Parts: sequence; structure tokens; C-alpha cells
Amino acid sequence: MQQVSAVRKDDVAERVTYPIPANVYAETVVSVRHYTDRLFSFRVTRPQAFRFRSGEFVMIGLPNAEKPVFRAYSIASPAWDDELEFFSIKVPDGPLTQHLQKIQPGDTVLLRQKATGTLVVDALTPAKRLFMISTGTGIAPFASLVRDPDTYEKFDEIILTHTCRDHAELAYGVELFEQLSADPLIGELTEGRVTLYSTTTREITPRMGRITRLIENGRFYADLGIAPLSPETDRVMICGSMHMLKDVKELVEGLGFKEGSLSAPADFVVERAFVG
Ligand code: A2P
Repeated sequence: MQQVSAVRKDDVAERVTYPIPANVYAETVVSVRHYTDRLFSFRVTRPQAFRFRSGEFVMIGLPNAEKPVFRAYSIASPAWDDELEFFSIKVPDGPLTQHLQKIQPGDTVLLRQKATGTLVVDALTPAKRLFMISTGTGIAPFASLVRDPDTYEKFDEIILTHTCRDHAELAYGVELFEQLSADPLIGELTEGRVTLYSTTTREITPRMGRITRLIENGRFYADLGIAPLSPETDRVMICGSMHMLKDVKELVEGLGFKEGSLSAPADFVVERAFVG
């Protein structure tokens, strides 16, 4: 049975090894990037046999117990990438993230073998514009989708909104966008077709406010110089905190949007950003 080194030397005096559970991949951390004391991203090697659709999530754990704790993580890298990227919150006493936030290159991360999720382009019918509405780490599945050529085949324009408490928390999305046009595979494809709309709610910045409020009072449309949301021309994907999901769902349903799924594609899909 495969064994891995389970706990970092600075965490405990001696190294303990645990068996890797059945049907789980043990992957190596390639890089880690800390954005704030609440947010970090990391990349791990990708098992050759691991398949997923851009926008899906997978269960992640650490080899630090006989029965490791697993939590759902949206895959932030696109389906064509050789590595897997994740964007995570750090919860001080979160069963997984209190340990996960300490990972370093070379460490092992466990991955369950099946990816799933509702934020996939196949759950939506074709349209002109795709709006991706996110808060906090809810931007992760959209980081995958904006780097996937399939998204641009189905939609002419993508508008990604990202709302966080403060300016520093917006950095992941801003960097994602800065790197998009330089990407050798999809840079040209995305040119002039994708917009990032970042707002803060607890730090004063030029764009402040919850996205729900900015949509309702029209500021969002005015800022971008775009026509209001309509099921005739648009589709919507929503990912973030529970309250945000509920409010945005109600908002778009009020505009006549119908919820879609893989078995019955329609106008919008919703997924919570998982925390733990
Ligand atoms: P606010 O600061 O007004 O609560 P968190 O870091 O707690 O997950 O929140 C991420 C962002 O989501 C925050 O900017 C937060 O705004 C915003 N948010 C929380 N609840 C809602 C909601 N019901 N509708 C829209 N945005 C929300």
C-alpha cells in the first residue's frame, strides 16, 4: 500500500505515515501563493487519469489522519491544464483548512477521483452574454471557465463579477485577468470578449457595494455601459456565500431566468463556495 509522509516536521516532533485511502489520488503540491491572511491558492500535479469539466469541484483532503477530512473544492484551472489549481479560504479552526493553509511545495494533497458540479456550460442553453457572479473564493470555478475555449464557443461575451470584503482579496481575480491575454492557448480567443468587474464591501475603493445592490440600482450596467440582464440574451452562473446565492437567484428569477441543469439546460446555475 502507498504510504506518504503525513505531517510537516514543524507541526509535530516526529513524522507519522498513514495509508492512502482507496480510490484517492495522492498528488504533489507544486506551488502555493498567499494573498491575505484569509485567502491562498495552490497548484498540485494532475493525475493522468483524472478528468473533469471546467467549473466542476472535487473533494480534497490531507494525509494527516487514518480517516482524512475531505472538503469540496472547485477546480480553478481549466480542463486542459497539466496541473490542478485551487483557491481557498483559511478558516483558523476549519477541520481541513487549518492544516491545508500550511502546505508547501513537495507536500502531498489527496484528491477523490470523481469531479462533479453544476457550474458547467452544458447546463446552460446558448446565448450572447455569460454573467459569472462570485464572492470570495466563489471566483474559483470561473477562473477555470474563463480559461476554457469551450466557454467562448458558446458565448460571445463573458462578464465576471467578483465581490470581496477588501481590495487585497480581489488580487486573485485581477491577476487571473492580467494573465489571460498573455496566455498562449486562449489569449487571442479572449481578446475583447471578457470583462472583470470587482467590488469591495468593507474597504473604500472606487467600486463599492454588494453586486446585488449594484445590479438593482443600475450602477453595474452604467459602469460597464451594457444592456441590463435579460433571459433573451444572457445566461448567469452564481458562486459564493450562501446568502449571496439566495439573493442573486431571487434577483435573476425575478427577471424571468430559469434554473438549468445538465439534464435540462436553461438560463442560470448556482453553486455554493465551500468552506471548511
Ligand atoms: P458584506 O461585506 O456586505 O457582507 P465573505 O468574505 O463573508 O464570504 O463575503 C464575501 C463578499 O460577499 C463580501 O463582500 C460580502 O459583503 C458579500 N456578500 C455577503 N452576503 C451577500 C449577499 N446576500 N448578497 C451579495 N453579496 C453578499
